[in-house]
Amino acid sequence: MNADTPLQLLGGLTAREFLRDYWQQKPLLIRQAIPDFETPLSPDELAGLALEEEVESRIIASDEQGSWQLRRGPFKEEDFATLPEREWTLLVQAVDQFVPEVAELMESFRFLPSWRIDDVMISYATPGGGVGPHYDNYDVFLLQGHGRRRWKVGQRCTSESPLQNNPDIKILAEFEQTDEWVLEPGDMLYLPPQFAHDGIAEDECMTYSIGFRAPSTSEVLTHFTDFLTQFIPEEERYSDAGSEPVQADPGQITQDAVDRLKLLIQEHINDDRMLMAWFGQFMTEPRYPELVTGESLEESDLAQALDDGACLVRNPSARLAWSKMGEDVMIFASGQSRLLPGYLQPLLTLICSADALHQENLGKWLDDEAGQELVRELIEQGSLVFADE
Ligand code: SIN
Ligand code: CO
Repeated sequence: MNADTPLQLLGGLTAREFLRDYWQQKPLLIRQAIPDFETPLSPDELAGLALEEEVESRIIASDEQGSWQLRRGPFKEEDFATLPEREWTLLVQAVDQFVPEVAELMESFRFLPSWRIDDVMISYATPGGGVGPHYDNYDVFLLQGHGRRRWKVGQRCTSESPLQNNPDIKILAEFEQTDEWVLEPGDMLYLPPQFAHDGIAEDECMTYSIGFRAPSTSEVLTHFTDFLTQFIPEEERYSDAGSEPVQADPGQITQDAVDRLKLLIQEHINDDRMLMAWFGQFMTEPRYPELVTGESLEESDLAQALDDGACLVRNPSARLAWSKMGEDVMIFASGQSRLLPGYLQPLLTLICSADALHQENLGKWLDDEAGQELVRELIEQGSLVFADE
């Protein structure tokens, strides 16, 4: 992708300008980011998804007393029949994993690393409906799918920001409004993490939240150190060899001891290969691992299927990424990694980005033993699947 091409999706900004001036910094309203956008999913179809066991959904409603109720799906058809005409919202998580047309939307966001993308949540709100003033810890693009929604944007919050007293839903107690816009279908609002926002349905409406994820520092430290510990033998320990023979006060923990601890930790933190291997695995962990299951496949069956014109696509529930590791490359697929010779890098790029893999674009890689083996493994692992047609 050319970083200097003006993008309609960004209101005519180039990806470079957007990343420099807005991303993670300030909100941006984009009128007609997707002109004539028509929601690929009707409210009924969204409600249908919320009946499914494997789909995460919520209904949020407010009452006249200003208190908020949250109910978690899966729902039953009768649940919808008993809802009032106004002031409730149905939210369905990770719709991109279930509806290919919704997954296609994410293709427009390739100016950002694909491993930063979380999911596409879709909400359906009745007039006056909303989820209350709140903030999220993630970047989000709020694309209006159908009907109109009034978005109010406010202050940048922190975990110290006062909240209203609702047991299961975090609603801000204070809202210092800075902007307000009514979004029509195809309009999009970009919000960096922590900005207070409140979206109220003007009429019956649907909003697509294209969400991004970033691990918290505390997650990075916990999970990376957990990962590291698999490789550190028991005998590797704090050592005070060569320190001052006798401390003036044996009860004191000296600065020398802290310096030794720091060295011990730094040695591991400075291991870029370990950090990369952990990060790739962590960032590609699927949200629903039970939806990433493959089946065994003989080498000859793969060759035959591709010969017969079969196409492979990335499993919408899988996450893939790759990285350089010195002369080698590493592929990350749904929480697993594999070190491969560097010459396979173009194949990894192809696997991570092509719309589909077939005889034509796989070409010479099918004659390469390691290349073919990799494709077969990814099918067996469930990250690549045969397309239906
Ligand atoms: C919604 O679509 O109603 C809520 C999205 C959000 O505020 O994050
Ligand atoms: Co939000």
